Amino acid sequence: MTQTGKFKRTLVTTALPYANGPVHIGHLAGVYVPADIYVRYLRLKGEDVLLIGGSDEHGVPITLKAKREGVTPQDIVDKYHNIIKEAFDQFGITFDVYSRTTTETHYQTASEFFKKLYEKGEFIEKESEQYYDESAGQFLADRYITGTCPHCKSEGAYGDQCESCGTSLNATDLIQPKSVVSGSTPVMRKTKHWYLPLDKHEAFLKEWILDGHKEWKPNVYGQCKSWLDMGLQPRAVSRDLDWGVPVPVEGADGKVLYVWFDAPIGYISATKEHTPEWEKYWKDPETRMLHFIGKDNIVFHCIVFPAMLKAEGSYNLPDNVPANEFLNLEGDKISTSRNWAVWLHEYLLDFKDKQDVLRYVLTANAPESKDNDFTWKDFQARNNNELVAILGNFVNRAVVLTHKYFDGKVPAQVTIEEYDRQTLEEIPVIVKKVEDSLNNFKFREAVKEAMNLARLGNKYLADTEPWKLIKNDEDRVKTILNISLQISANLSILMEPFLPFTATKLKNILNLDQLTWEQCGKIDLLENNKVINKPELLFEKIEDADIQAQLDRLAQTKEANEAAAKEVMPAKENIEFDDFTKLDIRVGTILEAEKVAKTKKLLKLKVDTGIDQRTVVSGIAEYYKPENIIGKQVSILVNLAPRKIKGIESQGMILMAEDANGELAFVLPEKTIKEGSEIR
Ligand code: 2FM
Ligand code: ZN
Repeated sequence: MTQTGKFKRTLVTTALPYANGPVHIGHLAGVYVPADIYVRYLRLKGEDVLLIGGSDEHGVPITLKAKREGVTPQDIVDKYHNIIKEAFDQFGITFDVYSRTTTETHYQTASEFFKKLYEKGEFIEKESEQYYDESAGQFLADRYITGTCPHCKSEGAYGDQCESCGTSLNATDLIQPKSVVSGSTPVMRKTKHWYLPLDKHEAFLKEWILDGHKEWKPNVYGQCKSWLDMGLQPRAVSRDLDWGVPVPVEGADGKVLYVWFDAPIGYISATKEHTPEWEKYWKDPETRMLHFIGKDNIVFHCIVFPAMLKAEGSYNLPDNVPANEFLNLEGDKISTSRNWAVWLHEYLLDFKDKQDVLRYVLTANAPESKDNDFTWKDFQARNNNELVAILGNFVNRAVVLTHKYFDGKVPAQVTIEEYDRQTLEEIPVIVKKVEDSLNNFKFREAVKEAMNLARLGNKYLADTEPWKLIKNDEDRVKTILNISLQISANLSILMEPFLPFTATKLKNILNLDQLTWEQCGKIDLLENNKVINKPELLFEKIEDADIQAQLDRLAQTKEANEAAAKEVMPAKENIEFDDFTKLDIRVGTILEAEKVAKTKKLLKLKVDTGIDQRTVVSGIAEYYKPENIIGKQVSILVNLAPRKIKGIESQGMILMAEDANGELAFVLPEKTIKEGSEIR
């Protein structure tokens, strides 16, 4: 019988991070470290387990980022997929497969999944009115529409959420909606989509979760309960977008699967890529499936994806979804756009080879039941007071003394006293506690218990003081060091899931091969006279200056963010009205655009000014790609004396808004208006 009870094997999935930015400590703490701890533990137990991961490469934010940067969505995901994969690798996250949702296999798998549901009649087909950008000729995803928030009245709220007050919105809630693509006011237009009728699955989901999975973590169970209590609605599983898995039915041109439909199927695709036996992991009822995710993903993994799997009919449902809450950084929400994060690749530049320190701190302080705060002071304290002072110090003393007194050979236990016996008896008790905590996904508790074994050893050495006994009672010292080394050997197994790099170092020092979890708790892991290697420090102290450097960096980020939010150019001197009327500013439309050769900033534009068609050279190439601005209405100063720029005669000037950081935006009429209309 395996520890997993009636199950023969375990499939562990980890949320697929969006490939539009690098990963940070919040990702690691919430999902990847706990998942890795868990699978390392199962592997040590000799269980059949797969750890599945990959990058989520679809969705509107990726297309928006690509647009902003003037590159393709594929360029964006290629870049970040590699950065993310590398970071996970460096932190010892032992994926059996780390794939991505732009692979051929994934497109096929997701299409087939959709088709199967479609053919089974599991979708509702519905027409609805959605915002459409007439000048760009495209439907607008929620993120492609901004406007004023109806709740807090702040500008720049998105069609799905206001980032100022956090309220979820419908695009139609926005006051004065604007298309992000062209800046124009979108109109309503009919479009057809496919919906998964979650309401149809509600009764099943209630029974399956609320009655059947009372053991799920309270934060997960509670969130599911509140969704189910509110009542489920059909959810659209397609979007009008040109980036994603095309909807594989007739009459669906220009439509792709909604990113949250295809992403979890990515787990299946990745398993397929890893093994031809993938079905065993997905369909055999003797396989247990676990989803490791953050709290924002709960509804998709506990309600939507299970409904999809159930509707498909041949797949297992997850057995547990040990979702975590969020990790904050120094009291503030981690934010990519505000650069308020500790990026994994940057951490490693400053703290080379200290992967385990971060793994440890993020586990000891994991946001398991509530949001938690990462602070650099806590990071330093846990390194110096726990890893260095307890674990590192204990192992080091045991190894150093063995070399000093017994030429690096494991001495035999000679006489066992009561205190020795008590200490030895404590080892399997601690191991059992670690095991119980791990089985219940309580990783904070588990690492604390594992550390208690090092505490036990440290106290044992401090209490028995072998260095004072060596002169008169060598036999006693032999026993003490044997016990200390056996504890160290136990630590090399017990710590492996949490601190894999350190565990490897420790095994090397003790000259041990790979051990199994079953050996943990035993007190004969090192035979008498075995030669152990020279001591090597497991951890080193982190100095105040290193911590201060991190705090300074964050302070600078904060300052820059605050300055950016505030900064505006000072007002210019007053002018007379006549001065103003000298400017002849018109509405024009960009007809053609191309880069000016051998320049970084310049575009050559052909503009219909209503008066004529003319050439204007404009310094906007770093912000706009030529193909994205054709058809855009702009404001153009038409009576500016012509001037030659890079050999091209520029006849006028396009008006641009520019912030203190040099960010540019077109100044557009609020709605489409005839070319040549005067601006005054
Ligand atoms: O929230 C996110 O970052 C999503 N990309 C997670 C997707 S998880 C799974 F469904 F792929
Ligand atoms: Zn708001």
